[in-house]
Formats: sequence, C-alpha cells, structure tokens
Amino acid sequence: LLSNHHISESCGFLLPNPLVRLPEEFEAWNFLAENLEDLLLKHELRRRVDEMSLCDHRRLTGHRQQRLAYTFLCFIGNGYIWQEGDACAAKVVPKQLAIPWCAVSEALGLRPAASHAGCVLSNYKLINPNGNITTLVRFPGGKHCDWFFMVTAQVELTAVKGLKAIITAMHGVVEDDIEVTTKALRHLRESIREMKEVFSRMHDGLDADVFYNTMRPFLSGWGGEGSALPEGVIYEGVSSEPVQVTGGSAAQSSPIMAFDAALGVQHGGKPSDFLAKMRQYMPPAHRDFIAAVENGPSIRAYVKEREENAKLNAVYHDCVHAMKDFRSYHIQIVVKYVVVMSNRRKASFSYEGVAERGTGGQAFMPFLKSLRDSTSCE
Ligand code: ALA
Repeated sequence: LLSNHHISESCGFLLPNPLVRLPEEFEAWNFLAENLEDLLLKHELRRRVDEMSLCDHRRLTGHRQQRLAYTFLCFIGNGYIWQEGDACAAKVVPKQLAIPWCAVSEALGLRPAASHAGCVLSNYKLINPNGNITTLVRFPGGKHCDWFFMVTAQVELTAVKGLKAIITAMHGVVEDDIEVTTKALRHLRESIREMKEVFSRMHDGLDADVFYNTMRPFLSGWGGEGSALPEGVIYEGVSSEPVQVTGGSAAQSSPIMAFDAALGVQHGGKPSDFLAKMRQYMPPAHRDFIAAVENGPSIRAYVKEREENAKLNAVYHDCVHAMKDFRSYHIQIVVKYVVVMSNRRKASFSYEGVAERGTGGQAFMPFLKSLRDSTSCE
C-alpha cells in the first residue's frame, strides 16, 4: 500500500533523495532559488524575475526534476509576491514565472504556492552520511528558516513507523487478529509520541522573533477576506482572472490526517472543510492514500466490537490521546511563535494580512482548538 502511493519505506511522504539542481538550461531558476534569501533581503528578487526569460518547462524530465522545479518556483513565486510587504504585494506574477509555475504544479497535481509539498517534502539534502539534512532553498531567516523546515521534515520521518503500523493494524482487523492489531497500535502510539518529541526541538533552533517577523510572511497565500491580496493573484499568460490559494500550512502534511483516518477520528464543521481543502495541496498519491485508509477496514469499529479486550481498547485509547496531546502541543507552539509575537508587533510591521491569521488564511485558534477537541474516542 505504501509504495503504490509514492510513500517511501524509509522517508515516508518526503521525496526520497531529491535532486538539488536543475539542468543547465534552467540556470536562471537555480540561481534565483540558491540566492533567494539574499535577493529578498536586498529587495532584488522582483527585478531579477522581471528581467528573466521564459524557460521551457516541457524540457524537464521525470518526476524528480519536476518536484525540484516546483520547489524552486514556489519559493521564487512567494518571494516575488511578498518581497515588498502587504502594501506593495504583487497582484500579477509575470508570465516567465507564472507559466512554468502553473504548468509544473498542474503536472504534479499541486497548487502554485509555497505549500508544505514545495517547502518541505522536496526541499532537503543530506549533509552527512549520518542522515542529517538541511534545506535547499530558504526564505529570509537564515538558519532559523532551515530549522523550521527541517524539524517539520523530521516529524514526517518520525511518522514512518506509524504509517507502517496503521497498515499492519488494518490487516490485523481483516484477519480478526487481536494480537497483531494491538501490537501495531502500540507502534502507532510510539510514533505519535516520538513525533511530539521531535516537534519540541523547534525551540532549539527557531527564534520566535525571526520566525514571526522575518520568515513567516513569505509563507502567506493570497485571496480571501483579510488578505493583502483579497482577490488573489493573476498568473500572467495562464489566467486573466485572479486565483486564490492557501499559504503553507501544517494541515497540508499527510501523517496526522492519515492517523485520523486510521483511528476513525472525525472533525466535522468548518475545520473539516478546511482539512478537506488542504488535501488538494498534497501530492495526489498521498491524498489518495488518506482516502484509502478512510475507506479501509475500520480499526475503531473493530476495537468497539472487541470491547471485552482491555489491552486492545487501552492502546487504541492511548493512540487517540497521543494525537490529542500532539495537537495541544502544536497549540502551545503557536502561542509562542504567533500569538505572543503578534501582540508585540510594531506598528511598522508590513505584513498585517497574516499578523493575526494563520498562513493558511484562517483564524487559527478556534480552528486548532476545535481539531484538538474533536480528537476523541467518543
Ligand atoms: N501555518 C503556520 C503559521 O501560520 C506556519 O504560522
């Protein structure tokens, strides 16, 4: 089931061994991506993009080149739009950027915006044989930005054990094998708890001021009430009407949604609609995987049917509790990195559009709390 859905046995939803540079004829994109932080800090990215000529995206060969091009174009595109703050946000992406960005996104079934898929899943390289990784492309924020994306990538890696466990647990259900199901759920519980441990490393290398004031605005999307670009953005040469997209959001990451699906946790209401929308920002094979888990044998129903088995029931309960705990922890992180920083922001902060909203565009506290509260065995 994993490999059918482009999920790696070793790195889960991360793209295994991503490319780090595009062929020579895409040198303009390599250059902009590799120097993105510097060009944004010098306010030079826009001019460089405006002067760039159109490269033919049809000459990209294979999935890995497309994924790297997607990552590069997402960073260049979000940088282009937000370089000058809300007041001068770019309403139009010029065609030499818009045409390949949209075409590559469409070929991959992704959206033309700095998504989790673009910023994390294919934005890393090995820095030593011990498996340590760093980013390929960064927004301003330097090593803090790398840290934000790489801790997120490590959470993805830590979820691999849980992904294997949910498949084994579903087999256990089909075979009516309590032992196998119970053992698999223990592994899932461990995986979720480890994900929280890894997530807690965010504090070690990500400064809240740098995150909130310097890096985070570049993750914003465009479109909708409160956005600096309420209509969205025109991708020149692709569409004459503005297009709206959601910014980079952890809701675009697949493991937690896959675990919800496996545990039969349902959210309902607006939060659920937002999560459904965020699946469109995942690689199609990954969103299909979540759907396959949802439509697969129900672990929750099996546990209820086997009510007399205390061990099975307890471990299932622990898994749901670990998910709730993970979500509570996420809320704590958001308080430190967004809520507190937003309260302290200066009048000169030039990104009011995301000052009090999530980069996903919504009022995030009610959303996150609602998801936490609906993570329940009831
Ligand atoms: N979605 C995260 C935020 O709003 C990145 O800060």
